Parts: sequence; C-alpha cells; structure tokens
Amino acid sequence: MDYIISADVYIQQLSFEHTHALFRLTEANRDYLREWLPWLDTIRSSEDTRSYIRSTITESSAGGAPNFAVFYRSRLCGVAGFHPVDKHNRTSAIGYWLAEKYTGQGIMTSVVKTLLDIGFQQYALNKLEIHCAENNARSRAIAERLGFTYEATLRECEWLYSKYVNHAIYSMLASEYGSE
Ligand SMILES: CC(C)(COP(=O)(O)OP(=O)(O)OC[C@H]1O[C@@H](n2cnc3c(N)ncnc32)[C@H](O)[C@@H]1OP(=O)(O)O)[C@@H](O)C(=O)NCCC(=O)NCCS
Repeated sequence: MDYIISADVYIQQLSFEHTHALFRLTEANRDYLREWLPWLDTIRSSEDTRSYIRSTITESSAGGAPNFAVFYRSRLCGVAGFHPVDKHNRTSAIGYWLAEKYTGQGIMTSVVKTLLDIGFQQYALNKLEIHCAENNARSRAIAERLGFTYEATLRECEWLYSKYVNHAIYSMLASEYGSE
C-alpha cells in the first residue's frame, strides 16, 4: 500500500521489489547509519536485505503493522515503520532511517506523522513509542517535534558495536493523538 505524504514524499509498503535499491542505499550510507543503528553488520548482501524485507512481510501478514520504503521525488531515501505490535496491550514502537543526503528537510518528521495516523487509526493502537539512543539528537527531535512525551531514559539497553547506549523513551497515546 502507498501513502502520498506531500508533492515530494510518499511511502510504499516494503516488498521484494525494493530489495536491490534498498541494499544499494544501505551500502552507500553504511558509515553514516552505523553511528546509531546496530544492524549494519547483518546486512552484507542484497540477500540479507531480502531476508529483512521478508521478515517485515511476515510480520504484517500476521496482523502486525507494516514497514515502508520512503521515497523523495521518486527516489528511495530511507525506511520507516513499526516494530512488532504487542497485540494484547495495543502498543508498538516506530523506527526509521534516512540516507544522509536526504536529511535536514523534514522528510522523516512528515513520514512519522503519517505512521501515527496508520498506527492509531488503521491498527487501533493505544500507544506508540519511539526509542532513541540518548545522544541521538536528530532522532529525539522528531519525537519532540511531533508532540511525543518523554517518559524515561533506560540504562544501557543497546549494544552499539563497541559500547552500550542508554535509550530515551518517548510515547504518544491514542487519547493524545490529534490534540496537537
Ligand atoms: C533520525 C533521522 C531520520 C533524522 O533525520 P532529519 O533529517 O533530522 O529528520 P527530518 O527528515 O524530520 O528533518 C528534520 C530537519 O529538517 C528541518 N526541516 C526543514 N523543513 C522542515 C519541515 N517542514 N518540517 C520539519 N522539519 C523541517 C528541521 O529543522 C530539521 O533540521 P535540523 O535538525 O537541522 O533542525 C536521521 O538523522 C537518520 O536517519 N539518522 C541515522 C539513523 C537513526 O538515527 N535512526 C533513528 C534511530 S532511533
């Protein structure tokens, strides 16, 4: 499924047709993404990208919320979507990344805003979280710009290649959504 976000930006549910472009984008941004994302060493070939896409398709086929390829002026520029949904508690977390040259234009903020619509309206979730490494200022800024509430900082929750990092947890509740 596609969602048009603006004249320049749209998102498309991840599918195998994105495999090669997504692997190439990951390769080109490997060093940039490595600062904050822990999975770069698990993606070494387009077959690895395909396996990742397969896992997102499996998750959404089982009733989970989807993950999307993000396009700017018809070029793939990143990925955004939902972590596995906790169905009993109607909760999920949103994750995202952009290729470096597409940052600084508000693309991801607009995409995450659309993910809020999808999560709260289509999937009837009660709570959406964003987990950012404590020092990941640009990611934290997205949560803050969209009116998420900062809940807490959890200690050493992620191993990032050579060190543990703390996570800043932000959330928005269904009852708060749309009140901004
Ligand atoms: C996190 C990440 C997606 C943020 O990218 P970003 O470009 O800062 O986010 P946006 O696309 O929302 O753009 C916001 C920027 O555009 C600017 N901007 C311009 N027009 C804008 C608009 N209409 N609306 C919002 N922001 C706008 C903002 O001021 C901001 O720039 P600034 O930080 O210089 O002030 C990117 O840094 C990234 O991919 N990092 C590596 C992976 C990562 O950390 N993922 C998150 C893990 S939790």
